[in-house]
Amino acid sequence: MNITIIGAGNMGRGIGTRAAAGGHSVTFVDASPETAEKAAADVRSSAKNGAQVSTASLGEAQLGEVVVFAVWYGTNIELAKQLGNKLAGRVVVDIANPLNSTYDGLATAPDSSSAEDLAKAIADGAKVVKAFNTTYAGTLLAGQVAGQPLDVFIAGDDADAKAKVAQLVTDGGMRPVDAGPLSRARQIEGMQLLHIVTQGTLGTNWGSALKILS
Ligand SMILES: NC(=O)c1ccc[n+]([C@@H]2O[C@H](COP(=O)([O-])OP(=O)(O)OC[C@H]3O[C@@H](n4cnc5c(N)ncnc54)[C@H](OP(=O)(O)O)[C@@H]3O)[C@@H](O)[C@H]2O)c1
Repeated sequence: MNITIIGAGNMGRGIGTRAAAGGHSVTFVDASPETAEKAAADVRSSAKNGAQVSTASLGEAQLGEVVVFAVWYGTNIELAKQLGNKLAGRVVVDIANPLNSTYDGLATAPDSSSAEDLAKAIADGAKVVKAFNTTYAGTLLAGQVAGQPLDVFIAGDDADAKAKVAQLVTDGGMRPVDAGPLSRARQIEGMQLLHIVTQGTLGTNWGSALKILS
């Protein structure tokens, strides 16, 4: 698959590393071309099976079949409006945790989520999938926590779109967990709020993972 990652910060690099390690080609787009180039240079060493790692500007990027919005809540909505019909037919992955200004609650309405807000703003035909919001950036670089593969909770209303994201997750050495329709993003985002506010208690310094064991 060709994956476009918009936002080449901590999460962009983490997801890009796993995608390239899984043999998928990655194009980084960032507000700063230098940031995109640096991410591409760092991720290239992880690429397997001929995966290419490149950069492009937002205006000139040939968007891949999967587009990851690795940006903050609010910027994801702006990007959807800016890209408009270019997103039609593509899988758009929302990874945002919509934290409030004091980082102890969610900024979204109780009957919505970042992913659903994005779905309302995005062009017809774009398929929004929630994923990767519970996996901290450093754990994505490592690909595991405590020797265990990361669980990636996936929510979406389009089965094919979810299957593509699940494939990406599996190929990158992680375990996809299909959580159901896009409205399940409310619970996945709430679950990660708990994971964020307990970092101090746990003392895990953003190195922990949410995993379902059986
Ligand atoms: N960090 C984590 O461990 C983690 C875990 C799970 C989920 N998340 C979620 O992942 C998202 C990104 O977090 P992050 O830690 O990766 O943030 P980050 O390191 O700040 O990366 C965001 C990147 O996006 C760029 N950017 C901003 N606006 C843009 C635009 N319009 N077009 C292209 N690029 C743009 C930023 O560039 P500038 O710096 O130049 O603005 C920055 O390089 C957030 O929604 C967060 O809630 C984070």
